[in-house]
Amino acid sequence: MKILMVCLGNICRSPLAEGILKSKLPKDSFTVDSAGTSNYHINELPDRRSIEVAKKHNLDITNQRGRQFSTEDFDAFELIYAMDTSNYKNIIKLARNPEDISKVKLILDEIPEYELKDVPDPYYGGENGFENVFKMLDLACQIVAEKATLTR
Ligand code: 4NP
Repeated sequence: MKILMVCLGNICRSPLAEGILKSKLPKDSFTVDSAGTSNYHINELPDRRSIEVAKKHNLDITNQRGRQFSTEDFDAFELIYAMDTSNYKNIIKLARNPEDISKVKLILDEIPEYELKDVPDPYYGGENGFENVFKMLDLACQIVAEKATLTR
């Protein structure tokens, strides 16, 4: 199964989501990747604060480089998780048909009765925003991993 995590820049939230989900799934039967809807940070490393919060939780995300989401990703992935509703809308704009649209979900919708719909964009905030984002993505990815392992 192939799962894609998408945010705006592909340097803060989706690299964390990629790293966290990868750590919860067996490598042989799952592909996890991430992308940004913008072209702002192509080929860049994740944000230093994302690298640090991942490291604090024993994850290394320094192998990742920024890339932009494209229409071909609808063919390459079975599940596409948007970090927030703005990312969701930008992905849906590129969809070609109902099947493309059906692959796209909001990551926080995976957590039952969660108070938030959007993973807050931590880019312009402090370090604490990144820890907060890590915790909610860890919770969501645990549920995604359990579901994916059952339906594989
Ligand atoms: P991300 O955060 O979408 O979680 O990677 C952002 C990174 C960069 C920018 C915005 C959000 N930016 O405007 O450059």
